[in-house]
Amino acid sequence: TEAWRPDDDRPRRPSGPVRVRVPAKINLHLGVGPLRADGYHELTTVYHAIGLYDELTARPGDTLTLTMAGEGAGELVLDDSNLIIRAARALARRTGLPALARLHLRKHIPLAGGLAGGSADAAAALVACDALWGAGLSREELAEVAVELGSDVPFLVYGGTALGTGRGEIVSPVLVRPANWHWVVAAADGGLSTPEVYRELDRLRGAGAAPPPLGSTDPLLAALRQRDPGVLAQALGNDLQAAALSLRPDLADTLAAGVAAGALTGLVSGSGPSCVFLTRTSDAATRIAAALKESGTCRSAEAVQGPMAGARVA
Ligand code: C5P
Repeated sequence: TEAWRPDDDRPRRPSGPVRVRVPAKINLHLGVGPLRADGYHELTTVYHAIGLYDELTARPGDTLTLTMAGEGAGELVLDDSNLIIRAARALARRTGLPALARLHLRKHIPLAGGLAGGSADAAAALVACDALWGAGLSREELAEVAVELGSDVPFLVYGGTALGTGRGEIVSPVLVRPANWHWVVAAADGGLSTPEVYRELDRLRGAGAAPPPLGSTDPLLAALRQRDPGVLAQALGNDLQAAALSLRPDLADTLAAGVAAGALTGLVSGSGPSCVFLTRTSDAATRIAAALKESGTCRSAEAVQGPMAGARVA
């Protein structure tokens, strides 16, 4: 027989609404390998969660509904095709619980910006519904459900800095003594479609030509260990950058403006069109964000830090 424990740690259903905060991601290294038979490219990437957040609130409901405010309101489709709704349904299937919730999204992460905003919202929905329904799944179990929702979703369940392999869905944490890195994120007007950027990369590489071997993440991981922004700046790299610049040549002006303002380096974030810049200090990041806004080469710019935790109940 089991002893009675006063501190029963079974998950309890919260009495009020559940509020979850989820960060955006950038890729410190994004090596793109060959196109696979399933339509995805083989990746080796180093994910990094930064302090730019969406917030998802979950309340009890008689059906499953989604409303939103903020960045992209009126543009983002909120029906069953939305990744948040698909995440809630996937969790319901996994746990056998009914998919009932009133979900509200406050969005700050730009849409189709290369910052995994959609994937972040899906990760937030998993964490929020898990708490609302008292399901009590572990991070690992939530990350398993996340795989079917998108390549970046498992990472956003964990956050931090992590190695991604496969199509990006196989995630393992990078074990380094934590450092605070200072970034500037510049959002562009308009978005880029991720599949289109991958197609452009394949086109640039030449039909039938073998893609270059996946670049090693070793220099990047060594740079993280050295904790020197100057060294990290040299190790950052993104194979999708050439394709994003080919579709959006104006991003070269954004990158040049950030470097001219004093950033150590700048690169396209994921499939773009957002650009990120590494700086030495948070003061420098604030100053460079202001200069970028002033430059007229981007829609907005913000100083942020990384790494940050993944989707968490606030
Ligand atoms: O996994 P996710 O749904 O986010 O991917 C969106 C699209 O990006 C895929 O349909 C594919 O065209 C492209 N992609 C890719 N290789 C990856 C990840 C995404 O080609 N590793």
